[in-house]
Amino acid sequence: MQLHEFERGLHGRVAIVTGAAIGNGRAFCERLAEEGASIVIADVADASATADAVRAIGAEVLVVQVDVTNPDSVAAMVAATMSRFGRIDILVHNVGHYSELPFDLLTYDEWTCTMRLTLDSLYFTIRAVLPHMKKAGFGRIISFSSDTVWLGTPYLTHYVTAKMGVIGLTRSLASEVGKHGITINTISVGLTATQRPAGDAVSQSILESILPAQAVHRADEPEDIANVVAFLALPASGIITGQTINVDGGVARH
Ligand SMILES: NC(=O)c1ccc[n+]([C@@H]2O[C@H](COP(=O)([O-])OP(=O)(O)OC[C@H]3O[C@@H](n4cnc5c(N)ncnc54)[C@H](O)[C@@H]3O)[C@@H](O)[C@H]2O)c1
Repeated sequence: MQLHEFERGLHGRVAIVTGAAIGNGRAFCERLAEEGASIVIADVADASATADAVRAIGAEVLVVQVDVTNPDSVAAMVAATMSRFGRIDILVHNVGHYSELPFDLLTYDEWTCTMRLTLDSLYFTIRAVLPHMKKAGFGRIISFSSDTVWLGTPYLTHYVTAKMGVIGLTRSLASEVGKHGITINTISVGLTATQRPAGDAVSQSILESILPAQAVHRADEPEDIANVVAFLALPASGIITGQTINVDGGVARH
């Protein structure tokens, strides 16, 4: 690997980041912009603060209001991106859904909501960007799993099931798209500083089970994860695919 490939960064590349209005998603937009990418800031909520932050870095920005659980809305996001930039190099699908419920209280509505926001949305967004990536012979798809899949954390059956699904999709699809120059990886995220557990009994027990399981006893910062997103997005990372990268303070070493 030659150093100049890293130095070129993401200049000329276009990245869609979903769930970009706050938290981790905003950090990903800023980090990719620092590497030179143009950013499509996609969220169901007002993302103007992220847009201001990314413009301040000097990157080109397109803000798209999207509901990633609606395939028509996702198609419109992709059409708007192609119309503005003419290419989609990177998809960072950050939207997820987190709730804590003992299995006895886990309603079918909450189960399906978790699957729709975590897995259906991943399916819809990948399906929408893949034709453009295949045509270009280049693509980087990055999604997010969770350290709770390794711990089997209680009260998260729905969440852990969905986040294991993300890993399965990543492993299988990587085999199909590699020949098109497309990589797909998932980052297994640890307890992150953006998360604000309610402090009730369930949240407290989850906190108490996760932090001691880490080798580094602090929560992830969004920037910890953003650095890995930027690395996986680089053209020079093209040999890394189908992987689950654990960014979790060492939980997955067990
Ligand atoms: N925060 C953590 O501790 C943690 C731990 C492990 C994994 N993760 C994963 O990391 C990712 C980001 O986590 P976070 O805590 O920053 O998320 P978050 O819940 O704070 O932010 C999610 C963003 O998605 C947007 N969104 C929600 N529904 C949407 C929809 N239908 N269409 C478009 N946008 C929608 C929200 O408006 C919000 O801006 C998720 O996939 C999450 O599961 C987070």
